[in-house]
Amino acid sequence: MSTNSTSGRNAQWGGRFAAGPAAIMRDINSSLGFDRRLWRHDIAGSRAHATMLADAGILSQPDLDAILAGLDAIEAELGAGTFIFDPALEDIHMAIESRLTTRIGEAGRRLHTARSRNDQVATDFRLWLRDAIDGLATQHRALMLALATRAAEHAATPMPGFTHLQTAQPVTLGHHLLAYVEMLARDAGRLADCRARLNECPLGAAALAGTGFPIDREATASALGFSHPMANSIDAVSARDFALEFLAAAAIAATHLSRLAEEFILWCSAPFRFITFSDAFTTGSSIMPQKRNPDAAELVRGKTGRIAGNLMSLLTVMKGLPLAYAKDMQEDKEPVFDTADAWCLSLAAMAGMVRDMQPNLPRLREAAGDGFATATDLADWLVRTLNLPFREAHHVTGRIVARAEALNRTLDTLPLTEMQAIHPGIDARVQSLLGIDASLASRASLGGTAPTRVAEQAAAWLARLTPDATP
Ligand code: ARG
Repeated sequence: MSTNSTSGRNAQWGGRFAAGPAAIMRDINSSLGFDRRLWRHDIAGSRAHATMLADAGILSQPDLDAILAGLDAIEAELGAGTFIFDPALEDIHMAIESRLTTRIGEAGRRLHTARSRNDQVATDFRLWLRDAIDGLATQHRALMLALATRAAEHAATPMPGFTHLQTAQPVTLGHHLLAYVEMLARDAGRLADCRARLNECPLGAAALAGTGFPIDREATASALGFSHPMANSIDAVSARDFALEFLAAAAIAATHLSRLAEEFILWCSAPFRFITFSDAFTTGSSIMPQKRNPDAAELVRGKTGRIAGNLMSLLTVMKGLPLAYAKDMQEDKEPVFDTADAWCLSLAAMAGMVRDMQPNLPRLREAAGDGFATATDLADWLVRTLNLPFREAHHVTGRIVARAEALNRTLDTLPLTEMQAIHPGIDARVQSLLGIDASLASRASLGGTAPTRVAEQAAAWLARLTPDATP
């Protein structure tokens, strides 16, 4: 290996150079510190490329055999952690190719025929992201299953529903949790769309213009599990919208996780006391002995910052770039790796919290009745039974609420005579409707919060999410 030859010239591209790079040039140029994560996919890409070259008669069979055996050995070294990364080599592609040449000599130097690092890195990155997406999709589904399981358990558990964070109407905890399942299902759809769109193969685009060698791009695309080769070689090496789409899908999904995290943080605070977390998902304070802090939820909320930021990073890197490849694009990987890591951790932590969370049932029921939460039920009754126009019913109900507030009563314990003083048409039937359970049961419209509806929705989700169920 001549990379570290006395001249310091690069072994792969140093032919026209008389001297090696300045140390700072090497530092700014190097991506080996982070793109080593692509090693499995780089080896897979090289196997497919070499095999195709041999099938096309561009590489001899003995050279192919040597290359494949060399790649196997390098894969084993990388897997075992014994591969030595030479910081003088720019990136994972050069590190592996250089190691191959050290191991097998001449044949290793033939591998890069009809290939450029531009199509190589685009291929490796798509392969890496495809695997990352598959892992994330599995975790995503596990979180949805955890939420749907808790929703089924709490299909009839009342809690306050909020608008403006003011008590609005009673809902069930199951209904609230299923709202997140719906959001997460759309996130999963965005991830699946991204996977489908990224799954085309840039390999064979070479530097940007294609190649004069009689390569078979269909063969490499199919060997690597891509649906087809990319149609335009310039696009193949320039496109990073697959990474942007992933980052955008992640930013939206992280925003959803952050909203749930925020609710958990509020709900376990002393003024709310809606839920508690066990020791497994909380931490203590080093100064205040009584504290139990929901750090995991706070970190899920906090990681949303970097995930959203990573989308902005890559959008900004790409926005002024003329076609085709420019080295700026080496900045594409860290945001994607960071987002995949943060998202993966957030999904796992959130699933753990969802399973761990213990609702405080008496407190939820009490809070569900706070703030005259069944006032809309009263107004609706005035419309249905007394045929009042809704605006008038709204006004009458407002006066009744004010009276109840003055007497420090809830609507369902306000004496009938008090209501009749405000509207004489009101009769005893109304009182049975103003309790929380009656209010919940009445909201049986499609998608509504009635426990029967929520139980149906939870069951439907559980059937879709249970591993052996057909989707
Ligand atoms: N490390 C580079 C990257 O990640 C690989 C491609 C380099 N191509 C080049 N023409 N210098 O973008």
